[in-house]
Parts: sequence; structure tokens; C-alpha cells
Amino acid sequence: MHILSINGSHRGEKGWTHALLSRLKTGAASAGASFEMITLAKVKINRCLGCRKCQTVEQHLECVYAEKDDAAAVFAQMKAADLLIFATPIYMMTLSGLMKTLFDRFYSTMDVNDMRLSAHGLIHHHINPAISSKPFVSLICWSNLESASAANAAHYFRTYARFMEAPHVGELFRNGTPLLDYAHDHPDQTRFPRIHRVYQAYEQAGRELAARGRISSQTQRHANQELISLPAFGLLKRFVPIKRIVIRETQKMFDG
Ligand SMILES: Cc1cc2nc3c(=O)[nH]c(=O)nc-3n(C[C@H](O)[C@H](O)[C@H](O)COP(=O)(O)O)c2cc1C
Repeated sequence: MHILSINGSHRGEKGWTHALLSRLKTGAASAGASFEMITLAKVKINRCLGCRKCQTVEQHLECVYAEKDDAAAVFAQMKAADLLIFATPIYMMTLSGLMKTLFDRFYSTMDVNDMRLSAHGLIHHHINPAISSKPFVSLICWSNLESASAANAAHYFRTYARFMEAPHVGELFRNGTPLLDYAHDHPDQTRFPRIHRVYQAYEQAGRELAARGRISSQTQRHANQELISLPAFGLLKRFVPIKRIVIRETQKMFDG
């Protein structure tokens, strides 16, 4: 099993997205998979110009940036992988710019004159399935505690799976990312058992991807659990008056 993760964080390897991917890598490697990481902040992907030269007879499916940036190399790595992990932080309630810029470049891999009907009954243009129809995991992380922050990105990846006919083999959602630092920085590591449980779940998810090519629903539940140690926090935070308590409790964590 060869897994390729694509990290859309503009902070690259200094970010929480990378920290989470590293746990997946640890688990996957321990179960015998090779795990490659592309950090988009470290490569050059120009934004699609929308020039449509890639749709002309003269330059069919060839981007004006061919050999001028790293998109073709990234596509080649995607083709070589058995499974992809699209990992993006939430920026202004949606995918990061780096991640979206990469997806926009798929345009040069699709023939807009070649219309297809997907298995889900969606009319779409023919996109190179060797790049876009791979089984994939979406990993979305954000600092807010609200699930609503990730709704657009979650919907994006679900729609992507339907149009591309790509098996969506795992959905990882990590809110409250600044809290993850407590697992590293705080002298008393046992004070934040949930954070350790989340990291353990990420390692387990990596093992499952290596062995079975998908993340079990139980592991996903553990990975996506709330970090705040309030009983039934996920449920409680839906009620506006309770949110004041949530803010107070979270603030306590920040204040140490
Ligand atoms: C430009 C920008 C926009 C952001 N927008 C949001 C947002 O809408 N909602 C949210 O919860 N967090 C937002 N964040 C916070 C990031 O999603 C969060 O810190 C994430 O974990 C960053 O991952 P990283 O450390 O891998 O870069 C934003 C951060 C940046 C830099």
C-alpha cells in the first residue's frame, strides 16, 4: 500500500495539519505501508488562469504551466499512489487556498467536450481518473470549536467523491487545533488525555489504511472526538446558553 498525503496548510510542516498527518504516517508505516507527504507550501503550484488553452486542439490537455511549476510532478505522484489523503486547514470557512489551487489545476486533465454520466447519475466532463478517482481520505482541521466551520469543506469532499467516482474511505475532522499544543507543551501530559486519545486514534487510522484501505467508523469516532473534557460536550455546545460555559472552560485550558 502506497499512501500519499497532500497537505494544504500554508504553515507547511510547522502546522497542526502536519502534526496530524505525522501520526497517520507513524501508524501506516508500522503496518507496512509507504507514506509519502507532499507539503503544498513547499512546492510551486500556479493558479489556473482559466485560459482554456488546455482545451484547444493545439494544446490538448496541456497546461500553459507545464514544466514551469510542480503541478505535473504532483499529479504523477498522485497517479503512483494507491490512496490519497487530502489534508486542509479551514481558511475562512472553506479549503485553504493552496489546496483549492491544486484542485483547480485538475482542469487541464479534463476534456470539457467529453461528457460522462457518473455512477451517481451526475453529468460531468471527463477528468483523468488516474489522478482524481483514487480512494481518498479527507482530513479537515480548524481552530474554532464549531462544527459549522468545516461544513463547506466537508461538503466539498463529499461532492468531489460523487463527481470523481472516488471512494471516500475516511473523514477526519479536527476542531480546536490550538489545544493540540497542550499534549506537547504541558508538563503534566495526563492532564489532556483526550488529546492523547485523538493522536492514538490517528495512528490507528494509519494502521487501518495500510491494512484495509479505509478507516473504521469506530476509529473515526475516536479521532473526531471533542478535546474539551466536559461530559457530552458535543451535544452541549449546540445550545447557545451552554456556549458561555464552553467558552469559559476552553479559556481555562488556554490559561493553563
Ligand atoms: C487565513 C486563515 C483563515 C482561517 N479561517 C478559519 C476559519 O474560518 N475557521 C476556523 O475555525 N479557523 C480558521 N483558521 C484557523 C486554522 O484553520 C487553524 O489554525 C488550522 O488548524 C491551521 O492548520 P495549520 O496549523 O496546519 O496551518 C484560519 C487560519 C488562517 C491562517
